[in-house]
Formats: sequence, structure tokens, C-alpha cells
Amino acid sequence: MEQTILRPTAEQRYADELAALRRWDVGNPKPENWQLSPRAVRLFLLGTGRGQTLEVDGARISIRKKYYGNDALVERCIITLAGNRGLMLVGEPGTAKTMLSELLSAAISGHSTNTVQGTAGTTEDMIKYSWNYALLLAKGPSREALVPSPLYVGMEQGILTRFEEITRTPAEVQDCLISVLSDKVMNVPELGDGGILFARPGFNVIATANTRDKGVNEMSSALKRRFSFETVQPVGDVALEKQIILDEAGAMARSAGISAPLDEDAAALLATAYHELRQGVSAEGIRLKKPAAVMSTAEAVSVYYQTLMSAWYYGGPEQARRLDERALAENLMGAVAKESREELAAVREYFTAVVQQKAEREGGAWKRFYEAGIRLK
Ligand SMILES: Nc1ncnc2c1ncn2[C@@H]1O[C@H](COP(=O)(O)OP(=O)(O)OP(=O)(O)O)[C@@H](O)[C@H]1O
Ligand SMILES: [Mg+2]
Repeated sequence: MEQTILRPTAEQRYADELAALRRWDVGNPKPENWQLSPRAVRLFLLGTGRGQTLEVDGARISIRKKYYGNDALVERCIITLAGNRGLMLVGEPGTAKTMLSELLSAAISGHSTNTVQGTAGTTEDMIKYSWNYALLLAKGPSREALVPSPLYVGMEQGILTRFEEITRTPAEVQDCLISVLSDKVMNVPELGDGGILFARPGFNVIATANTRDKGVNEMSSALKRRFSFETVQPVGDVALEKQIILDEAGAMARSAGISAPLDEDAAALLATAYHELRQGVSAEGIRLKKPAAVMSTAEAVSVYYQTLMSAWYYGGPEQARRLDERALAENLMGAVAKESREELAAVREYFTAVVQQKAEREGGAWKRFYEAGIRLK
């Protein structure tokens, strides 16, 4: 029997779409060892579009849009990966860098789990290779005794290697990548003459880095030159952000067995609040204090989902139909207070300067949100 897991990989979640795209893709030009052509990879990330479908073996298949934002950025990323430079996705927290890297790896290589997670404790052998000491002692240095890193696996099999949060690793460890990215070889001196690993076609590196972490360990310019940098921007459009909140929270709810209907008004309200606080200016042109906390779409999704869960577990499906604005306001404040309690001043100011006006003008969810929010003070 198939076991359920908490978070299936992108290739598991979208297995049907990937299989359909593979059948559709016949005849499109494709780099060696890629599972899909750049065209099909693009479709996988950006979707077939509203009401549009692909014809696959006589059936009509629609592909869900997964990344909202800059389509040209996605196209450039795919082309970079087909070339000989690595791809570096940089940006604010929660701008879907990790999501893009997972989706690209799943579509291009069929795997998204060949990943190095960069931390302050990442060492050179986590990036290159280490040894199984029992086998090393018994048989001496051999491929069998070598424990490959995700980078090694990527080179050996011709698949992508993801490097998450690369700037959190010490600079001298990051620099192990330089020769791999420029010469596409890795030396394993312990293995003697046979100890040179040549990368197979299809290998490349997708790294992600958070602009808030930048400066912790500045990347060397030698390494920077071996990457194409792409800056991923936060979602700029309130309607899109609302759609992401509904899609993502809906998918999370489904996989948790929560069948509550989604509340569009609450999602719109949350998207507006996050957008205005992030920009430091309201739609009406009122200047606001920007909270130091991360006001990302990912945070908005989790505030919405948390509110949905409390409605579902404490209120039952009837109450979940309309999210409780008090819980929404509480969860929003909790998310902002993460950095420090003082940050709440920015949210309070938002309530008195902006939410009050919207409540008077629009009523409905804004009115309930305002009333719940001022009571929380
Ligand atoms: N433009 C977008 N399109 C679709 N979903 C988005 C977008 N921006 C943010 N999201 C949502 O935010 C979630 C979190 O994104 P992700 O973890 O990939 O961010 P990140 O940039 O890697 O953040 P961090 O720097 O904190 O690691 C995504 O899974 C998705 O639900
Ligand atoms: Mg990330």
C-alpha cells in the first residue's frame, strides 16, 4: 500500500501533468538528457492559460499555472540551465525561489531532491564527496566506498543539482563549485588515475540566495561569474497575490483532508494588507511605516491557512465558509511580531490609518476586520 507523506516532491505532486507533457513533447528540440524540452518546461511552470488545453493522445489536458509573475524570467532561467553557466535565483524571502528551483528540477531532470541545503555548517565534503569508512577500510578507496554528494550525483547522472541558500555557507566552501562549474570536472585524488569525474550533459546547478542573508558570506567574484543571476521580485499585483493565497492554501487544505470552501473576501483582504504594508503605502496613497518582518506572499499564505485551520477544527465546516476576521487579525499580528513586539506599532498604525477608512467605505469583511483588530490592541 502506498504510504502518505507530509510533503510530496514536485515530481510526485505533478506526476500526471509531467507524464502528459512528456507525451505531448514529441518532436520538440531538447537538450541532451533533459526529460522535457524547454517549451514543455515553460508550459509546466506557466500553465496552458485560462480555458486553454493541450491535445495529448486525443485527450485535452490543462496544465496548472504554478508561478505567477514574470514569464520572461522563467524563460531565461530555462535557457540558462541549458547552457554552461549555473542559475542563481536571488530575492527577498518568500518570493518563490525555492519553488522555482524545485519545479525546474522536477521538469528538467525528473528529480527535485538532489539538493544541498546550505548552512553555516556546510563543509567541503558535503559538497563534493565523503567516505563510508567501513567500506574504505575493508576495500580501500573505490567508487563503492565513496559517498557522493548531490553535486557528484548531478555530474555523474547528468541531472540538476539544487543548492539552497548558498550564501549561508562559508565562502571557501562555496568556492568548491568554481572548478565544477567552469571545467565540469571533479577530481577525486584518492581514486588514483580513474579519479576524475567528468560531468554528463544535463548537469547544471540551480542555487538560491536570500537578499536578507547577503553579506553574511559575500560570494567570491570568481564564483559569481560562473552563474547567471536572476532576481525574483515579490508579486506586484494584489489580484495575483489573492489567487496565489487561494491556490496554495487550497492545495494545503486538500492534502490535509480539510474540505472547507475558500473565502475569497478574506483572501483579497489579506493580499491587500500584505501588499500595502510591504510597499509602505496604501491604495489610497497614505504613507505607512513598513514592518521589519518579512511581508512575503508565503507569509500571507500561511496566515490564511492558519485561520482556515482554526475555523475548521474549532468552528466546523459551516463557520469555515467565512473566515473569522478576528483570527485573521490575530494571525497577521503574530506573523508581524516575529521580529519584535515593537513591530506591532506598524500594524496598529495600519488599522487606524487605512483599515478604518476601508471599513467605512466598503463595509463587509473590512468592517469586521477593523472591529476585530481594534479590539486586539
Ligand atoms: N510569484 C509566485 N507565484 C506563485 N507562488 C508564489 C509566488 N511568490 C510566492 N509564492 C508562494 O510562496 C511560497 C514560498 O515560496 P518559497 O519557499 O519558494 O520562497 P523562497 O523565495 O525560497 O523564500 P526563502 O528566501 O525564505 O527561502 C510558494 O510555495 C508559493 O506558495
Ligand atoms: Mg527558499
